[in-house]
Amino acid sequence: MSKLETNYTEFSDPRVVALYDTLNPFGIDSEFFCKQAEKLSAKTIIDLGCGTGLLTHELAKRGHEMIGIEPSAAMLAAAQSKPNAEQITWIQGSFEKTDSLQVDMILMTSHVAQFFLEDNEWQEVLYAAYQALKPNGYLVFDIRRLTNPPFIGWPTEENRKKFENTNAGPVEWWFKLVHVENRRVRYELHYSFVQFGEEIVSMNELIFRTQDEITQALLDAGFKMETIYGNWDGSLVTSASPEMIFVASK
Ligand SMILES: C[S@@+](CC[C@H](N)C(=O)[O-])C[C@H]1O[C@@H](n2cnc3c(N)ncnc32)[C@H](O)[C@@H]1O
Repeated sequence: MSKLETNYTEFSDPRVVALYDTLNPFGIDSEFFCKQAEKLSAKTIIDLGCGTGLLTHELAKRGHEMIGIEPSAAMLAAAQSKPNAEQITWIQGSFEKTDSLQVDMILMTSHVAQFFLEDNEWQEVLYAAYQALKPNGYLVFDIRRLTNPPFIGWPTEENRKKFENTNAGPVEWWFKLVHVENRRVRYELHYSFVQFGEEIVSMNELIFRTQDEITQALLDAGFKMETIYGNWDGSLVTSASPEMIFVASK
């Protein structure tokens, strides 16, 4: 295997998956998605790429009927091991698993939409989402805007983020840019388990489609554009916004 091949270990290695909620706790982005679900009166929701299910569980707690879909067995197992998991429908897979479902809202949160690297796959995701929504249903997802360099402000090897008290003892975390090519960003995430002198590296790739490209793909799939937010405070998108949070309706 080439040293540069993606492995997305952050989602597959149980030692790293066990850290996910510590490194990515419930935050203002999660609260934003909860508010959208409430505001748009979504009774049934698919959380596509639900990961460890932090948001899925919170939405279930707030009274929404939740379906969590996730390709990674390790992430799904973490989601299913949380209290009250039996109140949620869990499905291993991706967008192809939505074909027998009809819901009020589909969420893709924490930049799940950027993992669909190929344009034909991305368009298939949007078509599948459209089919799985009831009339007047909503698709809501976030896309991080590409900066130069990407991921400004993320911890680097020289400036690691330290987590003292994880289940695996102290862990240091940082990112390293590998390359940027045609809006696709390849990067490493390093997890150093200090106590064991062990380091796990996740090689990831994300695509940063532009606002116009995403809008066009949504329209091509049949969606109507509702709102594009630019940040978690609910402000509308501008060319300087760090995020593009799309709300499209059927
Ligand atoms: C950054 S995590 C976000 C997890 C969760 N949505 C959250 O907000 O915490 C990205 C998730 O997308 C999932 N993912 C990656 N490729 C996917 C695909 N093709 N279809 C669905 N989910 C995918 C990963 O397994 C991972 O759980």
